[in-house]
Amino acid sequence: MKQVRVALLGLGTVGTGVWKMIQSNQDVIARRTGMLVTVEAILVRNIHKDRQLEGVQALLTSRFEDVLAREIDVVIEVMGGVEPTRTYLRQAMEKGCHIVSANKELLARHGEELREWAKRHGVQLSYEASVGGGIPIIGTVSHFLKANRIYKVSGILNGTTNFILTKMKEEGRTYEDVLSEAQQKGYAEADPTADVEGIDAAHKLSILSRLSFDVCVTVDEIQRQGITDVTPVELSLAHQLGFAIKLLASAEQFGENGPVACCVYPTLLPLNHPLASVNDVYNAVHVEGDFIQDLTLIGQGAGEKPTASAVVEDLCNLGRVSGQSLTKAVRCPLLDGASEGGLR
Ligand code: NAP
Ligand code: HSE
Repeated sequence: MKQVRVALLGLGTVGTGVWKMIQSNQDVIARRTGMLVTVEAILVRNIHKDRQLEGVQALLTSRFEDVLAREIDVVIEVMGGVEPTRTYLRQAMEKGCHIVSANKELLARHGEELREWAKRHGVQLSYEASVGGGIPIIGTVSHFLKANRIYKVSGILNGTTNFILTKMKEEGRTYEDVLSEAQQKGYAEADPTADVEGIDAAHKLSILSRLSFDVCVTVDEIQRQGITDVTPVELSLAHQLGFAIKLLASAEQFGENGPVACCVYPTLLPLNHPLASVNDVYNAVHVEGDFIQDLTLIGQGAGEKPTASAVVEDLCNLGRVSGQSLTKAVRCPLLDGASEGGLR
């Protein structure tokens, strides 16, 4: 059994899910990976907030220096934002910590720099949760479509807006009312402008474009329009005419090594289109490649559990992907006999 010491940066929607999954699925993780995951520190803004989570209080700190002072193997970043997050991750990598992040804004804007730091310090950087919530699209494109020429990646990449469009159409509710519910459910960003203006989908498209086409498309280069102007009347009228309105993100390469066009727009889809029935908080990603032909992944695109799933799966795959040991072996009588296949 190998102990993996983790620091959590953030204990909001995603951080809470990650904490719960590490506690409740410890046996599954140990059996399948040989890892004994222990959370050593949790960074938050306000250590006095009532978290209603058994066992976290003693681990909370609002000072990143306290986190750095601990012996940590993996930093899980689920606090969001660009700064001070970027600086914290650099400092953690300098200390030799592997990084798992759900932060699409940071990855979209500073991905190259983060990857360079990770390489320089011989650590891994994983970010499955940054696109599509629980959908394993980053792993699919990075590890299972390496030999395909990818032509196009498109889909519904934002859960909040898909939830809003679905509820406005099906329940006749107002935009404000449904947005408020999406916020309560933990789907929306801290500032939901990023969701409703298509910025969050553009961040995700930028990350996917880099992985699919090996090109850097900055968020500012992506043409986009959000859903704030879409009205219930338009949704209903579109339906009567045989269409659904979806916020579609699309990246397409023209010609071998040619330019990549990226856009995010509310789009009319015929009701028999496979993405027209992807509703609520669900996301869908469609990939077209020369040999895979086409592939669609659908799953919950936001929220505590699916996002935590992607984060914890990243954690469990760190050793498997690199083939390197994350940490030293420890004896764990409780989990004796568990597989050590994950970490070598
Ligand atoms: P959240 O609910 O707002 O939680 C943020 C957490 O980070 C809180 O615990 C907050 O502390 C802490 N935090 C924020 N800034 C901090 C700072 N400067 N110093 C110390 N602690 C800080 O956010 P979330 O929804 O969990 O999202 C976290 C990240 O995951 C974001 O990058 C987001 O884009 C990404 N993500 C979210 C989802 C989703 O469905 N929510 C899905 C995929 C990816 P306090 O608790 O004290 O305020
Ligand atoms: N706010 C994002 C969404 C969270 O609604 O899709 C998941 O990335």
